[in-house]
Amino acid sequence: MDHTADNGKAHPFPPDFAWGVATSSHQVEGDNCNNQWAAWEKAGRIKSRDRAALACDWWRNAERDFDLAQSLGVNALRLSLEWSRIEPAEGQWSTEALERYREMLKGLRARGIRPFVTLHHFTNPLWLEARGGFSSPASIPCFERFTRRVVAALGDLCSDWITFNEPNVYAALGYFLGEFPPGKKGRVLESARVTYNLCLSHAVAYRTIHALQAGANVGWAQHFMVFKPRRPQSFIDRSICSIVHTNFNDNFFEGVRDGRAPFPLDVMGATLDSVKDTCDYIGVNYYSRLRVGFAPRSPGTLFLQLSVPPHKPQGDCGIEIPYGEAYPQGLQRAAEHFSTLNKPMYILENGVPDRDDRIRPWLLESVVDEMRQLLAKGIDLRGYFHWTLTDNFEWNEGWHLRFGLIELDPETQERRLRPSAGVYQELIKANRNGASGKD
Ligand code: BGC
Repeated sequence: MDHTADNGKAHPFPPDFAWGVATSSHQVEGDNCNNQWAAWEKAGRIKSRDRAALACDWWRNAERDFDLAQSLGVNALRLSLEWSRIEPAEGQWSTEALERYREMLKGLRARGIRPFVTLHHFTNPLWLEARGGFSSPASIPCFERFTRRVVAALGDLCSDWITFNEPNVYAALGYFLGEFPPGKKGRVLESARVTYNLCLSHAVAYRTIHALQAGANVGWAQHFMVFKPRRPQSFIDRSICSIVHTNFNDNFFEGVRDGRAPFPLDVMGATLDSVKDTCDYIGVNYYSRLRVGFAPRSPGTLFLQLSVPPHKPQGDCGIEIPYGEAYPQGLQRAAEHFSTLNKPMYILENGVPDRDDRIRPWLLESVVDEMRQLLAKGIDLRGYFHWTLTDNFEWNEGWHLRFGLIELDPETQERRLRPSAGVYQELIKANRNGASGKD
């Protein structure tokens, strides 16, 4: 990185920069009933008790939102494929589902929008989940087969692929904190096995895609959080903070960068040599900063206390835990951290839960400034995807947390542009095609 550059305020974005929005299948399609998240909802595990139901109704009419995306001037859109629709039972493939995805990708391209396709965004078909999901090594050939099918079916319409969305969140929330299905808590070893199998699945998918498509651009989306000790003078808070940082932010990442197996499998002698360097770019999902402290009386949270000081900018709070401080400067930390991989970088998600659009306009402006600074420092940043276009089903929080540039009434499917939709539109207009954005 060139630290002698100016503070980056006027640095232009590259002409082919991807100005996008990001979504995922279960959160937008509606009527997904064959994956583990639908089962989790049925079992009453969504904290808000909401139902995904029609979500944003994309399975029937994603094109309504594609039109809105086009009107905002975005030139890229990230969506994911719902494995449980494409392979509803093991080895049975739905040509109808693949046809619908073809239609969506064609619809995007016809609107001048470059599709970025995620192969796995948290959801597993029920048949895979019944076999242990990614905690079982049997998931690896299943994922390879799925990848082969979808790339063969859609590869003429898309060449930007994200193998996994946030493998570090998937493992931490599903197997350590118990917030996501399968709801397991404190399973250090199992969580490490999940990460290990995800790394191997990613690597076979990377090779499969490249074997089928010469010019493919393949990576994954890594979630990064900025952690700060709650009491910086406390040795124990500082130590916990550093453990949480390494175990969360480097989880999976070290597999690809160094071929290193996750703790404790590494000390047990496992390696991930075949995973090293299996990416063409690094995708960064960055949202917030959290204070981490030791909570001796809180075994339920594994003795961790996560908090946000009240005077810090925050979007809306989660039902049980704070979502985090909106801290756009953290993007510098994320980018520096991941630049050790020496690959092009995309911000594949960034946003804030903010139903009343109190701080989203500020966040958007600030993040664009932060990205200019990164470009000025020499970071090879190629795109930014705001999470999200239209309010969608926020996993455990249901409809409680709203991330959309566009407000949605899930009952009536009515949409209303929030002021930040206009802010993003202006930012794109000012910075697209190499404009400096500051005149
Ligand atoms: C996930 C999205 C989610 C977003 C907002 C990310 O961690 O990839 O699916 O909706 O954060 O919480």
